[in-house]
Amino acid sequence: MPSKAASPGDPDEIAGPLTRAATFLLVRIDSGAEGVVADFLPDLPGLRRSVGFRSLTGGLSCLVGIGSAAWDRIYGGPRPAELHELPVFKGDRHASVTTEADLLFHIRADRMDLCFELETLIMARLAGAVTVVDEVQGFRYFDARDVLGFVDGTENPTGRAAREAVYVDDDGAFDGGSYVVVQKYLHDMTAWNALSTEEQELVIGRRKLSDVELPDAEKPADSHIALNVVTDDEGNELDIVRDNMPFGRPAYGEFGTYFIGYAKSPVVIERMLENMFVGSPPGNHDRILDFSTPHTGALFYVPTADFLEDPPEEAPAAKEEEPAPAEEEPERVAEPDDSLGIGGLRETAE
Ligand code: HEM
Repeated sequence: MPSKAASPGDPDEIAGPLTRAATFLLVRIDSGAEGVVADFLPDLPGLRRSVGFRSLTGGLSCLVGIGSAAWDRIYGGPRPAELHELPVFKGDRHASVTTEADLLFHIRADRMDLCFELETLIMARLAGAVTVVDEVQGFRYFDARDVLGFVDGTENPTGRAAREAVYVDDDGAFDGGSYVVVQKYLHDMTAWNALSTEEQELVIGRRKLSDVELPDAEKPADSHIALNVVTDDEGNELDIVRDNMPFGRPAYGEFGTYFIGYAKSPVVIERMLENMFVGSPPGNHDRILDFSTPHTGALFYVPTADFLEDPPEEAPAAKEEEPAPAEEEPERVAEPDDSLGIGGLRETAE
């Protein structure tokens, strides 16, 4: 019997250790295919177990996020109270972007082959029912550095503090879930590399080699970490859990950071984005944006594994309509049990 913490979709895994590899997959649900997705989601934990058990040390996990519009299409009935579309944050110099995506699959493991295999099985089941919006394969870079060369993740809360930061705890049936924001950033490495190491340190707010935070007197107000420490009315720091991953294709000049942040309330992450793009005070934007451009952006609610496997009674609107073609689709794809299902994946990608 698998432990609860090892089930996909269980936000216990959000607070787990960083992995060496990750896949970030965003898809849109095709019109009329909501029933296929609703049938698939309860099976996701089993698929994750099938792949994960083949490597006991691989640490495979899979969290699925459901977007605001998709929620009503899949589940109907009550909604997570704070689930909404991610707003655009627009300042004098920089603006964030939003991406139309219904589902996020955040697949993590210590080996990319495990992520690859699970993604293949997921896509085989969803072939013909979803349109891929974006797929990024991230890797851990030396001592958890981003491609800008700085250690990324140091101030993440751990243990109990991490659990308190990410689990919804005041929303009835949605307690134990979490909210997640993703943004895919591409970096201008030519401009970044033209800075001296000392200038780069002023952009981030930490020393590059040692990862030590700059003293307050030296840390500029527009440095990344100065703008990302947000507090409540009583001055308590509001934490999020980040699991950013570098990605890229050097031959194509592509160098990126896939930002992913989990929190019990999306408001915390949105305050950080407001500080970064609009500035705090307005105009004092995050210098990291002078070298980093967001190409995607979306917000999702991540249900618990229990919710995924045993969703509430309300019939999904689409299931009531029983769209015949979408219901038939899974029967026609490659058999995930005894093949890699690569044929099914290729069909979808083309
Ligand atoms: C800290 C990189 C985007 C929130 C950091 C640090 C680095 C970094 C190197 C310092 C080490 C650490 O504590 O992790 C990046 C890069 C980004 C990015 C390369 C994309 C271009 C974001 C976004 C948010 C964010 C979009 C929030 C919406 C934070 C927070 C901290 C942090 C909360 C910790 C601040 C503290 O408590 O000191 N980031 N980050 N980052 N970042 Fe980012």
